[in-house]
Amino acid sequence: MLVVLKENSKEVGQEAARIVASSLRANPKLVLGLATGSTPLGMYEELISLHHSAGLDFSQATSFNLDEYLGLPPESPQSFHYFMHSSFFAKVNFSPANIHIPDGALRKDYSAYCDEYERSIKSAGGIDLQILGIGRNGHIGFNEPNSSLASRTRLKELTRETIEDNRKFFPPGMEIPECAITMGIGTILDARRILILATGKSKAAAVAKAIEGPISSSVSASALQLHPDVTFIIDEDAAYALTQRDYYRRVLELTRKYTPEKLD
Ligand code: PGA
Repeated sequence: MLVVLKENSKEVGQEAARIVASSLRANPKLVLGLATGSTPLGMYEELISLHHSAGLDFSQATSFNLDEYLGLPPESPQSFHYFMHSSFFAKVNFSPANIHIPDGALRKDYSAYCDEYERSIKSAGGIDLQILGIGRNGHIGFNEPNSSLASRTRLKELTRETIEDNRKFFPPGMEIPECAITMGIGTILDARRILILATGKSKAAAVAKAIEGPISSSVSASALQLHPDVTFIIDEDAAYALTQRDYYRRVLELTRKYTPEKLD
């Protein structure tokens, strides 16, 4: 695991975008796992700017989003479909046929739909690079505490805390969905490489538990300790509760010196 400490959220977005861009240049058919929320916005802005200024080309890339609210139509401004199109896809040259976002439509059989989402990830060759945020309760995707560490894409019930955290994206009076379709922790762990971003003091406790705590289904992100290629990119506020910050800085320096390819 690499822990990259950055001064602020802008630098977190720039570093994440730098890695996505270099992975995409190395493999134009990159399969990306993408996340929504406030944290990755800076990364998307930076990628859009690289597309315009340096010709970063998404035309052959494929994407799979982590999750979508249950019961929100794709055209709803609060849906993750809307978020992804308005914040990213509409501003770069992603081919619409290569974009996959879970469909949050109400249906009779969620497991058949979710199995189909899993199959489409497999038939695209699996996710090369997964981007994650982290919830205050340590969730990744919408894998709330006590999600199975082996879980796959499924319908998941949201905690009160998550519903409250997401209230900022909803106009007053609008009902906030209580469930979501989300990739599972097992789905996420199948990605070849994982970047997880966190900014702000409100994430510090979750980040510390994820990196330095025991692996536990109480903190979904702690399952990332099982993955051989995870990079946490976090700002000073989100790193606040980590006890080994100096060591992480030294690991980074030594990685730059001896195995710099790991940082691209
Ligand atoms: P945020 O959400 O980026 O809006 O803080 C992250 C998450 O809940 O995974």
